[in-house]
Amino acid sequence: MAEVTLSGISKSYGDQVALDDVTMTIPDGAFVVLLGPTGAGKTTTLRMVSGLDRPDTGTVTIGGRDVASYTPAQRDVAMVFQQYSLYPHFTVRQNLEFPLKSPILQTPQAEIERKVNAVAEVLQISHKLDNKATALSGGEMQRVSIGRALVRDPSLYLMDEPLSSLDAKLRSDLRIELKSIQADSGATMLYVTHDQTEAMTMATHVGVLDEGKLVQFGSPREIYENPVSIYAASRLGQPRINVLPSDVFGGAPNKATHIGLRPEQIFQGEGEDSFVRRVEHLGDQTRLHLSFKSHDLITVTDAHTTLKEGEIIQIRPENPFYFDASGARVS
Ligand SMILES: Nc1ncnc2c1ncn2[C@@H]1O[C@H](COP(=O)(O)OP(=O)(O)O)[C@@H](O)[C@H]1O
Ligand SMILES: [Mg+2]
Repeated sequence: MAEVTLSGISKSYGDQVALDDVTMTIPDGAFVVLLGPTGAGKTTTLRMVSGLDRPDTGTVTIGGRDVASYTPAQRDVAMVFQQYSLYPHFTVRQNLEFPLKSPILQTPQAEIERKVNAVAEVLQISHKLDNKATALSGGEMQRVSIGRALVRDPSLYLMDEPLSSLDAKLRSDLRIELKSIQADSGATMLYVTHDQTEAMTMATHVGVLDEGKLVQFGSPREIYENPVSIYAASRLGQPRINVLPSDVFGGAPNKATHIGLRPEQIFQGEGEDSFVRRVEHLGDQTRLHLSFKSHDLITVTDAHTTLKEGEIIQIRPENPFYFDASGARVS
């Protein structure tokens, strides 16, 4: 169990600022997802906490202790990297056993076997336990890397896009397994992903990074329903929030230059004419690609809609977001 804090963490590589004064408190047992495009500073944040790299300024604490002088091993964290790092000459079983064979742990062999078998089952890799690591597909190697973190019982997991190389079915299975393993063990999780669904379904908290700055930290619901900026609003929600000039509809507040409309913030019925460019049936819902005063808009409607391309529907904003010229939320 461990609360993790980052206070005023900055890190540059040469001229490149990777993290800029990041302060964040990760409550004990929380599942924190870091969101942001490539280069935002997500991996660097994990490296600061793991001890694989040192901040230029600022303090990291784990379980209330300043860990500046602790090696990665002393920090009691298990890390899964974006690129899997297995021992190639070992079998899957040997790779999974390795973290438990440390002389300090003194884990009895029966216990090692029990843990390895349990983790292999969760990760759907039991049938490959005696294969050499080099004889696995990329997705299988990634599952073994996740397994090596899970066989241990650390107070903190750090995972960098662990599911991104897996196919959709396995990703959704493992999303549920990882979430329940973390919740059951009570371990704290700091997790990087690009996947909206992972963020929305797994996270207790989301941290939004923008060019090394933490621009918003809160529950996924808070960030979805109350984003601080266009940037933060665009990180969650599928399809993405629509951003248009604020004067396309009436009623914008003074300072607003842009209006932000999530699909459910577009009321369909009474309003202004809008042209249906494309109708995309996705099974559980239908996406409507609209053309409105020469702007493109995407919204959703029910799965059984009879709307066709070329029709005109009426729309109006419903409790939209407004942003100023800098992208900051004004109302
Ligand atoms: N070892 C490094 N050497 C030089 N630049 C680095 C290094 N690690 C990260 N950076 C730079 O720091 C910034 C943040 O990188 P990173 O934390 O890897 O972002 P993310 O994981 O969000 O894609 C990027 O501009 C990246 O190029
Ligand atoms: Mg990264």
